[in-house]
This record gives sequence, structure tokens and C-alpha cells, in this order.
Amino acid sequence: MKLARDPQSLAHALAPARRRGAPIGFVPTMGALHEGHQALVQECRNASDFSVVSIFVNPIQFETSDAFRKYPRNPKRDLSVLRSMNVDVAYCPGADVYPADTLVRVTETTVSRLFEGAVRPGHFDGVLTIVAKLFMHVRPSMAFFGEKDFQQIWLIRRMVSEFPFDVRIIGVPTVRDHRTGLACSSRNAFLSGSGRRKAASLNRAMSDALDRAPKLRTADAIALSVVRKLRADGVRVRYAVIVREGDFARVRDRLALNTPYRILAAVTVDGVHLIDNFPLILSPSA
Ligand code: PAF
Repeated sequence: MKLARDPQSLAHALAPARRRGAPIGFVPTMGALHEGHQALVQECRNASDFSVVSIFVNPIQFETSDAFRKYPRNPKRDLSVLRSMNVDVAYCPGADVYPADTLVRVTETTVSRLFEGAVRPGHFDGVLTIVAKLFMHVRPSMAFFGEKDFQQIWLIRRMVSEFPFDVRIIGVPTVRDHRTGLACSSRNAFLSGSGRRKAASLNRAMSDALDRAPKLRTADAIALSVVRKLRADGVRVRYAVIVREGDFARVRDRLALNTPYRILAAVTVDGVHLIDNFPLILSPSA
């Protein structure tokens, strides 16, 4: 595995793949790699001839400098995970990704302000800006993102549909703890033992609501059942909503049949912000 720390050494490491026209698969990460990241890397390895994984803790997507400082970092371990998975290039750029006098950001003006964007103002500007820069450095054919961050992947898809990035965005299903169903996240490292048990109620509350969705029928009733269950478990709810997957519009009334929706929720446990989501489609037989 080659290690590149700036765009020039990355270009050098990618040159053989570019020369033979090999499709490049790319997984952007902020490190602290867990099983969810490993699933992304595996998908990338399976689908592409040449794989690049970036590790960059992106300062401009954090709400506070404290949150940025405290984000878990373990570069040595991350690199050895990537090496063991036969990744071709690890790209670990430095803070100079952003010039000291940086003024330009990529902004989506509507969906980025909702839900996760309302709880964390400016977060998605930071995400889209770094993803756009990384796409320009790596120029991948395919890029892999976890569906756990559903709003993020929706916005990235939207960005590449409006800007001429020639890249296919591939969503990889959320990886969960096999006992509790808790979605893998680098932030889980901040949870205490009791916090982990509490956090698992996010998955339970959403799964219960989905099971009852055909009976509850309206989006608001389904979302409310998630909120009630979480509150009964003593969990602080930030939001629980249902959106139409196509346009990310929030839905409150009766759900149309055979239409892909997503139920999205965010909670705070032990002061840690956690998110999760599930697909929701009502079929005529339900
Ligand atoms: O999902 C993440 O880890 C980050 O938001 C990303 C896409 C690597 C951008 O910093």
C-alpha cells in the first residue's frame, strides 16, 4: 500500500492506474476505522481494480473546535487495517487542504439545512466542500459511502448530479452490532457501557415503528411512535422524521404505497450525537 500525504504524491501513486485506464474506487473517511468502514473498503475492493481510501478529519464539518479536537484518531491502527485489506493507496492529506485564507465552500441550499443540518449548522457545507476537493484530487470512477449517513449521501448524490464529477456514488448498507443492532459509528467510542445499552434503543424504537407502520399508516404517527419509545427509554430525541427518498421532502400524512421513504432519527446519549435510519416502503398487501 502506498501512502500519499499531498495531492502531488497522490498523483504519483495513482499514475500507474491512470496509465492503464483502471477504474479507481474511493472511500473517503475521517479515520477511527470500524466495521462499517471496513464494509465500505471491502465493497470498493470488490468493485474496482484500484482502491484509494482517504483519512482526513475535516475541521470545517464540526460544530465546534472542541468537537473537532476530541474526534477519535488512531492513524497507526487505521493504516494497518487498510494494509491488511490490500488497499492500493491511503491518502492522508494535511491541514493545507484548506489554505489559511480559504474563502470558498460548496453549499446546498435546501436539504442541507434540515434535520442533521439544523442540529449541526454548516455541517453539510463542510462535508460537501471536502468531498468535492477529495474527488478533484482522486478523480475516482466510483465512491463508496455508508447509508447510515443517509442525508449526507443524498446531498453528495445531488452535488455530483449538478457538478460535472464523473463518479458513481455507491451506498453501502449500515453495519450494526450483531447483538444490539446499534449502528457502527466512530462516535460509539465515546459511549459508556450503560450509554451503549441506551443507544441500542434507537434501533429498537425504529424497528418497532417499522413493524407497526402498515397499521399506523401516517408518517407522523410512525415518527411519533419512535419518539415515544425513545423517551420511555430515557433517551433525548433530537428528531425523528420520515422523508421521501427521491426528493428528501418531509412527509407527515398517509404514506403512498410502493414509494421509497426513509425514517431518520437522531438522539443524544452520554452527550454523544447518534443517528440512524431505515428504508420504509408500504406494499399493497401490508
Ligand atoms: O462520513 C464521513 O466520515 C465524512 O463526513 C466524510 C464523507 C469522510 C467527509 O469528511
